[in-house]
Amino acid sequence: MKVVTSNLGKYAEYKEILERAGIRLELIHMSYPEEQLESIEEVAEHSAYYLKGVVETDFFIDDSGLFIDSLGGFPGVYSSYVNKTIGNSGIIDLMKGKRDRRAEFRTCIAYYDVTLHLFTGKTRGSISEESKGKNGFGFDPIFVPDGLTATYAEMTLEEKDSISHRSKATVAFLEFLKKKAI
Ligand code: IMP
Repeated sequence: MKVVTSNLGKYAEYKEILERAGIRLELIHMSYPEEQLESIEEVAEHSAYYLKGVVETDFFIDDSGLFIDSLGGFPGVYSSYVNKTIGNSGIIDLMKGKRDRRAEFRTCIAYYDVTLHLFTGKTRGSISEESKGKNGFGFDPIFVPDGLTATYAEMTLEEKDSISHRSKATVAFLEFLKKKAI
């Protein structure tokens, strides 16, 4: 199986989950255009259609985002830009004084074989009062999944993979691959 990404954190997570399921993962390390559309599904779909003209075999990509309830779903599809610009400290500042800190992480996997297949995973949680932990990437230090006290960045790769938005999308993807192989 091939994943196209420039994000080695995502690659490490997929490698762990897929190889546990007996699927060898190969990295196509490249970035690609990401249109600013209405949902992560639309963004993933658009990028996958671009890549099918570039990558010769079947492949998948991942588009993800952090959606904060009290900010009307922001940063959502703007997550990458927000992460690069104001970063985690900027989000913590935006959330200062807010009692409702609920948020959701979403991942959409777009798998292209002869046609396009989308798989979405969501994990509910909240935005921490401060940045905590050194593992993972992106918004991991500020996201605490529901029912836990640790941020994603305070977890091992295996712990994050057992509850994450990305692993839920991957479970749906694996179910599809199993059916496809029959
Ligand atoms: P992308 O557009 O899917 O690459 O992701 C949008 C932004 O969300 C990027 O800044 C990523 O670093 C961040 N991001 C995506 N997935 C995760 C995750 O699992 N944890 C923390 N940040 C993430």
